[in-house]
Amino acid sequence: MALRSHYIVVLALLLSETWIEYGNSQDDIDLTKGASFIFGDSLVDAGNNNYLQTLSKADITPNGIDFKASGGTPTGRYTNGRTIGDIVGEELGEPRYALPFLAPNTTGRAILYGVNYASGGGGILNATGSIFVNRLSMDIQVDYFNITRKQIDKLLGASEARDYLHKNSIFSITIGSNDFLNNYLLPVVSMGARISQNPDTFVDDMINHLRTQLTRLYRLDARKFIVGNVGPIGCIPYQKTINQLKENECVSLPNKLAQQYNAKLKDLLQQLNENLPGSTFAYANVYDLVMEVITNYAKYGFSTASKACCGDGGQYAGVIPCGPTSTMCSDRDKHVFWDPYHPSQAANLLIAKQLLDGDQRYISPINLRQLRDL
Ligand SMILES: *[C@@H]1O[C@H](CO)[C@@H](O)[C@H](O)[C@H]1NC(C)=O
Ligand SMILES: *[C@@H]1O[C@H](CO)[C@@H](O)[C@H](O)[C@H]1NC(C)=O
Ligand SMILES: *[C@@H]1O[C@H](CO)[C@@H](O)[C@H](O)[C@H]1NC(C)=O
Repeated sequence: MALRSHYIVVLALLLSETWIEYGNSQDDIDLTKGASFIFGDSLVDAGNNNYLQTLSKADITPNGIDFKASGGTPTGRYTNGRTIGDIVGEELGEPRYALPFLAPNTTGRAILYGVNYASGGGGILNATGSIFVNRLSMDIQVDYFNITRKQIDKLLGASEARDYLHKNSIFSITIGSNDFLNNYLLPVVSMGARISQNPDTFVDDMINHLRTQLTRLYRLDARKFIVGNVGPIGCIPYQKTINQLKENECVSLPNKLAQQYNAKLKDLLQQLNENLPGSTFAYANVYDLVMEVITNYAKYGFSTASKACCGDGGQYAGVIPCGPTSTMCSDRDKHVFWDPYHPSQAANLLIAKQLLDGDQRYISPINLRQLRDL
């Protein structure tokens, strides 16, 4: 018995070595390949929450079952395979996935290929996600980038560091869903906020905070930004299950709030494009993109856009989060949703493709490949 568990520990170490070693040759960093600095929530978390005392965790099976770089073991990603951030980085030719900021080995020249600050449960507002006890909210993610920023200065020297950030680095921000799902719409925790703030005031609060956060990143030499709007959060299996909706229905209040925020986000990014010299802010219309995939799921090769692949409870397996004892579907690529909250790798691939090469419907004023080549 003891021998066997020892063997398992050794095997686990070997597997994690393989994963950490992926593309990580410390000495021959090629600065022309570019970097991704990724901010956001569980949609793009690549393992930060593994290092937090939190109720929001994805380092449990079967998460990551289709993630090749880890051999299918969980990494802390809240999906079966790659996140949108991973896919975009790969497509842009970055030699490795952006490393989680909190991982002990995210040090030295490895950070020059990018760092990931995203955290499951995190939001634009500080109070968002407090039901999970711990998470990195956007203010803290920017504080952490400020630490990375100084490390880059040390590695490259001030002038080359500035150039590298201005020209070869893409800053992606995927945040806002939790401010609604795990703050404003939460019956118990947010009672105060919801009673004292109407939707307009709450959304304005979000936009004002985000303006400050994006401006801080700009002051730290970020220039090429892509900011995702909030997706149709009324259509996720969790919302559909607890509201006992029909297959093709979505909950209207969460979607209305998302659209209200999205309209103001688009204006904000336009203002920042005009007011912050040398910057480009691309607006990623994730809402319309995901809605299109959900509405016409069969056209994209999916068998369902309502039922979670991994989860339990109710008609859409949308109550109990994905974990070792969950029911899991056998055709993971045919589900738009991996779990009650998050898209599958197959859906992430479709979304990433549009952000990279799509037209003004889904990304404006330019797409990611054009942003990279600026
Ligand atoms: C992390 O880095 C240390 C020091 O470079 C190394 O000894 C260790 O094996 C690394 N850990 C992993 C999991 O790669
Ligand atoms: C949010 O929390 C951080 C860290 O605790 C703090 O530095 C920041 O001032 C807070 N922001 C606001 C708007 O309260
Ligand atoms: C970055 O950190 C320094 C302190 O080390 C602070 O003076 C500066 O204001 C910070 N910058 C931003 C944009 O937060």
